[in-house]
Amino acid sequence: MSRIAYVNGRYMPYAKAAVHVEDRGFQFADGVYEVIAVASGRLVDAIGHLDRLDRSLNELRIASPMSRGALLAVMAETIRRNRVVNGSLYLQVTRGAAKREFAFPENARPTVVAIARNVDLLKAAANARKGVAAVTQPDIRWGRCDIKSVGLLPAALAKQAAKEAGAYEALLVDRDGNITEGSSSNAWIVTKDNVLVTRALSRSILGGITRSAILELARREGLRVEERPFSVQEAKAAKEVFVTSTTSFAMPIVMLDGQPVGNGGPGTVATALRAAYEAHAATHATGHPDWQAPFLRP
Ligand code: PDD
Repeated sequence: MSRIAYVNGRYMPYAKAAVHVEDRGFQFADGVYEVIAVASGRLVDAIGHLDRLDRSLNELRIASPMSRGALLAVMAETIRRNRVVNGSLYLQVTRGAAKREFAFPENARPTVVAIARNVDLLKAAANARKGVAAVTQPDIRWGRCDIKSVGLLPAALAKQAAKEAGAYEALLVDRDGNITEGSSSNAWIVTKDNVLVTRALSRSILGGITRSAILELARREGLRVEERPFSVQEAKAAKEVFVTSTTSFAMPIVMLDGQPVGNGGPGTVATALRAAYEAHAATHATGHPDWQAPFLRP
C-alpha cells in the first residue's frame, strides 16, 4: 500500500507530498512538532500532545493553523488512510513559506504536515524485556529545550554517537555533570533507597507527555518520587536507569557507558511502570469514528 501524507489541506501520496523550498522549517528550523503513539488505531494522550503543541506554538508566536477539532480530524484521517494499528503519528507545524529573512514574515501561513506509520511492537517488547544500552553525551542544545522545536541537530548528533557505540539512547549531560534527559526521551533513575528520580520541568528539558503519565502512575503506586537533577555518577550507582517517551514507553537502561546498571537486567520499577503505562495507553486513546484496528471490529 502506498503511503499517504497530509500536507496543507491535502492527503497526498508520498511521491507527491512536498513543502515549499523556502519553508521556514527547512531554512531556519522555525517550526514545532509532536509525535503521538497510536494504539489499536487510536491516538494516545492526544489532548496532552495538543496542549503541548499549543504551548510550543505560543512560545514561538506561530499562529495556530486550525482548530483543535480540525487537527484531531486530520490526525485520525492520516492514521486511517495509512491503516496504522500500532505505531506513531508525526505532526509538524512551521511558520510557513516566505522570502528568506531572519525576522518573522508579515503574513506567512503555517505549514502543516502529518504522517503516520506502524511500528514493530514485538521488537520494542523484546528490547524492554532485555533492556538496552545508553551512553552519555554532552548536552549542546539551545536554551529552550522545553519547546518541541524541529531544531534537532544536536539530538541527531547525540543519537548517532549512541548508535556508533552500539547503544539505544544518548543521555545528555549539562555543564554541572547532571543528566538533563535523553536525546529523544526523559531520563529516570531509581536510587539505592528506592526513590524514583527525574529532573524537574524547566527550560532544560522537554515536558514529556509520557513523563507526566509515568509520574502519575508512580505516585498512584505509592512510590517515593523526587523531581530534581541527578548526576552521571548517581545514575551509574543507581539500582535502575530508564527512559520514557511516546515511542519507547518506559525502556530499561541496563548498560551505561559500558558499565552494567544495578544487577545488569531490567529493574522491577521500570518493568512495573512499563506495564502500568501500557494499560494507560490502552485506556487514554481517541480515534476516528470509522477506523478501528481490524482486531477490534465486532
Ligand atoms: N521525542 N525529551 C526529548 C528531547 C524528546 O525529543 C522527547 C520525545 C521526550 C519525551 O516526550 P514524550 O513523552 O512526550 O514523547 C523527551 C519524540 C518521541 C521524537 O522526537 O521522536
